[in-house]
Amino acid sequence: MCGIMGYVGPQQAAPILLDGLRRLEYRGYDSAGVAVTNGDIDVRKAEGKIDRLADLLNSSPLVGTIGIGHTRWATHGEPSDVNAHPHTDPSGEFVVVHNGIIENFQSLREELEDLGHGFMSETDTEILAHLVAREYDGDLRAAVRAAVAKAEGAYALVVMTKREPGKIVAVRRISPLIVGLGDGETFLASDIPAVLHRTRDFLIVEDGELVVVTEDGAQIEKIEGGVIDREVMHVDWDAEQAEKGGFEHFMLKEIHEQPAVVTETLAGRLDEYGNAWLEDVKFDDEFARDFDELWITACGTAYHAGLVGKEIFRRLLRIPTNVEYAHEMRYNDPLISAKSLTVAISQSGETADTLAAARLAKERGSRLLALTNVVGSTLSREADDILYTRAGPEISVASTKAYLAMLIAQYLLALRIGRVRGVVDEDLAGRVAHGLSQLPAQVEELLHQESEISAAAEAIVDADDVYFIGRGLDYAVAMEGSLKLKEISYLHSEAMPAGELKHGTLALITEGTPVIVVLTQQALYDKTISAVQEVKARGGKVIAVAYEDDDQIHKFAHRVLRVPRADDLLGPVAAVVPLQLLAYHVARLRGHDIDQPRNLAKSVTVE
Ligand code: M6R
Repeated sequence: MCGIMGYVGPQQAAPILLDGLRRLEYRGYDSAGVAVTNGDIDVRKAEGKIDRLADLLNSSPLVGTIGIGHTRWATHGEPSDVNAHPHTDPSGEFVVVHNGIIENFQSLREELEDLGHGFMSETDTEILAHLVAREYDGDLRAAVRAAVAKAEGAYALVVMTKREPGKIVAVRRISPLIVGLGDGETFLASDIPAVLHRTRDFLIVEDGELVVVTEDGAQIEKIEGGVIDREVMHVDWDAEQAEKGGFEHFMLKEIHEQPAVVTETLAGRLDEYGNAWLEDVKFDDEFARDFDELWITACGTAYHAGLVGKEIFRRLLRIPTNVEYAHEMRYNDPLISAKSLTVAISQSGETADTLAAARLAKERGSRLLALTNVVGSTLSREADDILYTRAGPEISVASTKAYLAMLIAQYLLALRIGRVRGVVDEDLAGRVAHGLSQLPAQVEELLHQESEISAAAEAIVDADDVYFIGRGLDYAVAMEGSLKLKEISYLHSEAMPAGELKHGTLALITEGTPVIVVLTQQALYDKTISAVQEVKARGGKVIAVAYEDDDQIHKFAHRVLRVPRADDLLGPVAAVVPLQLLAYHVARLRGHDIDQPRNLAKSVTVE
């Protein structure tokens, strides 16, 4: 996720901006840049690490006490010097940095091109510089307002112009922005750690607000107008806590980022009728109509996302779909048709096994689609099509938000193909689109049930073994819940289809054995309850993940973790969140290093 910095005050801006950007490095980035005004606007930017930008500033310094800076995590356009922020308008009088995505970027770009505008970069950001300059009529604040009225999406935008020196104007639409209040100087940043060593007094800019920053402080207004009296927040956190946004661990922070991640993954890609536009999925309608089988390959959590994908594709597309662990597929001589589509799923895009399986699929003539979180990763470079998950950098080894984004991306892919093949009618597509649009609010709601989840964690923390069961999509979720628990709590756990229990594992269920059952699939509800009964009869301790209006489950379960009612097809999205939180709380009670579990690496780049 991009990082933003701004400074207005008496000191030289460039070193302060550079320092702030370094402190935002933990957010992940692929290029960095700064712009300073001093009569004119000067920009320095470079692909790669901040050290490259620092070298550039050493050889070609910037002089001026007002400036903006940015670390970019590519979304539109590959990582490069040209695509790095800041971006200026053609006159070079207006300069912007931005975080997030402009959903209607393509149509805005075409409109501006029709008016004769030319662009240097492939970014959506550069369009904003052009828009602000076009709207400018002596008042930067008004120009920014007019520009953002045209730009749809979830983003934070920061603008500076040489016509009004001494001022930075910024807008928050979902993507975070904070103001740091100093003595005769003011800072702007996407996150508190950037300036925590300079001030402890902050103004938090909320969604839908505009802020005008000067050396005397900041004025916050609604985007549509109307001044807001925001209370100053005094922060006592240390720098490490601040990087985690006040959360105790990155994993918890990332779990809490999920509502915003769902919004980002969907942004600009889906209309209310279920028509999906996937910018880097290049195959044409003919291919979408004609391919005859789907392969999904991945490892770990990404494989579990693929299991959900298999069911989505099966139900929506009726195409034969295989999901294979990449480390198995690469050696098992898969019978891949040359008319197939292979979806390789990988958060990092660098997992050695997944790359090997993806290459094998390509060699056998399959078209390769990379479903990944990292722009420019090896997988994305080798694929024919790319579907970026837009979850932002995931720091905790235990994957959470990337998994959720992988699920959302697969619903989008299924809609894109299903509409073309004519197997997903308007009614079904609209229903799925509606369900997806509800998810950010539903996931948000789930994050407020921490007390029930802590209680469930207490109930299993001392167990020797924990079992997860479910049927269909619920089984796929159970697999992910079990992996989360084992990797961070080091508790032995196993997931299986609920119907499989009686074929062996039931022998291990004795008095007090925890069994976690996922119950979002209504068509299979009674069948799953039969397995729950078998567990209960042996004294097992049942913890259920069930819909909020399920009024039967309390008869069978010792504890119930409630999730908002959803269409069966979308059930896994909400159901996984309590399981992520459960794993987190068990690991916390057991006193483990949650973000860096023993023996595990974030990205497994060796076989
Ligand atoms: O980067 P990838 O998605 O390819 O990584 C695959 C697995 O190594 C990864 O999902 C792993 O299972 C996670 N640590 C699970 O939380």
